[in-house]
Amino acid sequence: MDIEKLPRIGLAFYPTPLYRMDRLSNRLGVEVFVKRDDLTGFAFGGNKVRKLEYLLARAVDEGADTVLTVGALQSNHCRQSAVAARFLGMDIHLILRGSRPERNTGNLLVSHLVDAHFHFFDSLEGEELESEMETIAERLRAEGRRPFTIPLGGSVPLGAMGYVRAAQEIVQQQQLLGLQFTHVVFPSGSGGTHAGLLAGNSLLGAGWKLLGMGVAPGRPRLPAKVCEIASGAGQILGEKIAISPEEVVIIEKYAGQGYGLQTPESCEAIKWLAQEEAIFLDHVYTGKAMAGLIHMAREGAFEENARILFIHTGGNVELFA
Ligand SMILES: Cc1ncc(COP(=O)(O)O)c(C=O)c1O
Repeated sequence: MDIEKLPRIGLAFYPTPLYRMDRLSNRLGVEVFVKRDDLTGFAFGGNKVRKLEYLLARAVDEGADTVLTVGALQSNHCRQSAVAARFLGMDIHLILRGSRPERNTGNLLVSHLVDAHFHFFDSLEGEELESEMETIAERLRAEGRRPFTIPLGGSVPLGAMGYVRAAQEIVQQQQLLGLQFTHVVFPSGSGGTHAGLLAGNSLLGAGWKLLGMGVAPGRPRLPAKVCEIASGAGQILGEKIAISPEEVVIIEKYAGQGYGLQTPESCEAIKWLAQEEAIFLDHVYTGKAMAGLIHMAREGAFEENARILFIHTGGNVELFA
């Protein structure tokens, strides 16, 4: 199936800019380009809107009137889902890991402005939050509502289509620039972005080495999840994605002590990019991914003629949390 035939509600502005980071490249002695998915333009930008374009098309198709999703307290995915749901005339419930803060800041402030219903759970993790979400959805259904639930990070095959499409966009931008990227570097959290890029890389024969940068330590099941989502994305398009978890590269070395916890290297990367390239990263995802890229370049991990593309997946609303 042609991806363009798949129902999608356009929310973002494409193509997002892609250009060479001259100062960073000079400092590192290796060519580094950036794809500015922080500038997708919808609700302060970021990667999740690419997934939501497909997921919410399905919600509308199913006649949903309420969207529910889950995430960390400062989840970018929840912020973008909240604004997108409201924009499409639907109610929105966010099931969040953490306790109710005294003030809504950063992503929570944005979600608050669109009147999202917040449900806070102090001690629950991903799958437990999803099961709370199902309970709330059931209650809403009993009240006569038509809920549509989105799993953590929108990381399911349909959501990953957003990054299959992004891969197409990158191939077109490569052609316009007359070059070929050797590596594509990006943060890997719940795996959907990674899976979409992996499916796109394989279906388009793009030939990139994909380097997913882990944002939390100790996630041994993530490569298998990425494969599963990528293969599901392939199935939607009627294509087979032959890849095994062993081939999925997720580098956890720069993830620090835990999700959302800053590292000295991520703080340095954030300052570097702000000062040298006028690009603002975040502490949770892109700061750690860029810290990894910088460290690897300093260590000489990339060959001399490497052309690296860094995907800025957004998240910088968190700087104001
Ligand atoms: C800014 C940002 N970058 C990267 C990611 C990781 O994307 P994925 O969950 O698709 O792996 C997220 C997801 O929460 C994010 O908000």
